[in-house]
Amino acid sequence: MSNKMWGGRFGQGPDRIMEEINASIDFDKRLFAQDIRGSQAHCSMLAAQGIISSADAEQIVAGLEEIRKDIEVGQFTFSRALEDIHMNVESRLAELIGPAAGRLHTARSRNDQVATDFKLYVRDTIDHLDEQLAQLQKALVEKAEAHAATIMPGFTHLQTAQPVTFGHHCLAYVEMAARDRGRFADARRRLNESPLGAAALAGTSFPIDRARTAKELGFDRPTRNSLDSVSDRDFVLETLSAAAIAATHLSRLAEEIVIWSTPGFDFVRLPDSFTTGSSIMPQKRNPDAAELVRAKTGRVMGALTTLLVVMKGLPLAYSKDMQEDKEAAFDALDALSLSLAAMTGMVETLTVNEHAMRAAASRGFATATDLADWLVRKLGMPFRQAHHVTGSLVARAEQKGVDLDGLTLAEMQEVEPRITDEVYSVLGVDNSVRSRTSFGGTAPDNVREAASWWRRELAREAAKAGEK
Ligand code: ARG
Repeated sequence: MSNKMWGGRFGQGPDRIMEEINASIDFDKRLFAQDIRGSQAHCSMLAAQGIISSADAEQIVAGLEEIRKDIEVGQFTFSRALEDIHMNVESRLAELIGPAAGRLHTARSRNDQVATDFKLYVRDTIDHLDEQLAQLQKALVEKAEAHAATIMPGFTHLQTAQPVTFGHHCLAYVEMAARDRGRFADARRRLNESPLGAAALAGTSFPIDRARTAKELGFDRPTRNSLDSVSDRDFVLETLSAAAIAATHLSRLAEEIVIWSTPGFDFVRLPDSFTTGSSIMPQKRNPDAAELVRAKTGRVMGALTTLLVVMKGLPLAYSKDMQEDKEAAFDALDALSLSLAAMTGMVETLTVNEHAMRAAASRGFATATDLADWLVRKLGMPFRQAHHVTGSLVARAEQKGVDLDGLTLAEMQEVEPRITDEVYSVLGVDNSVRSRTSFGGTAPDNVREAASWWRRELAREAAKAGEK
C-alpha cells in the first residue's frame, strides 16, 4: 500500500529496506508531547485566523489530547509504516475524529514541525540539566563547607605541588558547573525562536500568525527566515557542545574520585551504594559509577561529532540527513543527565579520610614554595635565588629521608647561613594554607567565604526559579 499521508501519486508501497531506513518512529516517538503541543498551538492559531473552523479546531485539539493520554499510558500502537511521530499522531487523529483531522496540516510542513518539536525538546532538556547541575553544585558546596580546612596535597602534573584544602578543590568544580550552566543558558536563549509557520521552506500563502504560535509555545519570537528555520540545527550543536564540555568536567572529577579511592591514596571512600565488589577478589571496592561517568563522556563527544558531520555540506533547506540529528543527541543528553545524577550521589555520600590527605600533603615537600617565599620575605633574596637555595634544601631532606621540617637548623644553615629557626613557622602545611589569603586562594577563611557566597547565590537562583 502506498503511504496514506502522502501517497497520492504513488502506485507502489516502499521496499521493506526503504521503510526500515526511512522510519524514525522508533526514536522520535520521544517527541510526542512536544509534537502534540505544537499541533495544538498551530490548530488554535488556524482557527483564530479563520483558516479552519472553530468546530474543526475543537475536535482536533480534543483528539490530540486523547492521543497524548493514550501515549502516556502506553496505549498507543506506533507504526513504522507511518514513518515518524508526526504522521503517527496525525493518522491516529484521523481515526479518532475523521476528515477534520486532515485540516491540521494546513499551512505547515513536517519540516517546520520537526524543527519546532526538537527545539521544544532540547529546551526542556536544558532546563532539566540546569536543575541537575545546580544540585551537583549544592552537594559540592556542602562538602566545601565541611572541609574548608581539610588539608590535602594540591597537584600539578599529578606531582605534589602545594598543600590546598579539600573544600577549595570542591569549589573548583562548582565554578566549572557554573560555566556549564552559563553555556546551556546561552544556547537556550539563542534557540528560543519559533520555526513554526516556516512551512516546507518558503513560508505559506495562508494568513497565519506566527507571533501567536511562538508566544503560545513559550518562544520569544518567531524566526526571521523560513529557509533558515527548517535548516537550522545549530541549537542542537550548541547544546551538545555545552554538554560535551560539562561531561568533560564530570569526567575529570570522576577520574579524581577513582584515584582518590585507590588504597594507594585512600583520600576518599565511596559508600557501598556507589561501589561494586569483585566476584573473585573479596577485598575490592570498585568505583564503577565514577568510571562510567568518566567513560560516558565519550558518547557525548561522539554525538557532537556525529551531528557536525551530518550537517556539514548540506545544501539549504531541509534534507533527510537531518533526521539523523536525534538518536545521538537523545543518547548523549540522557548520558549526561545520568552522569550528573551519579556524580551528585557520589559527592553527597563520599567520606573524606582527613588523616590520609594530611599525611600525603606533609610528604613530597609541598611547602617548598613557602620556604622560598620566606627566604624572599625575611632575607630579601631574589625569588630565583631563593628557589635555588630551597632546591638544595629539598635535596638534603631527600637524602636524609625526611620532609623539609625534618632538617635541623644547623643542616639548613650549611646551605644558607642566614636562616633562623623562625623558618619552621612556614614549613607546616597548616601555616601554608592559612597564608594563601589572596583573592581566590586556598586559605580556609577564603574557602568558607566562597562557599557561603555560593550558598547564597544558589538560594537566590532557586528563589527566582520558584517565582516563575
Ligand atoms: N522524520 C523527519 C525528521 O526527523 C521529519 C521531517 C520529514 N520531512 C520530510 N520532508 N521528509 O527529520
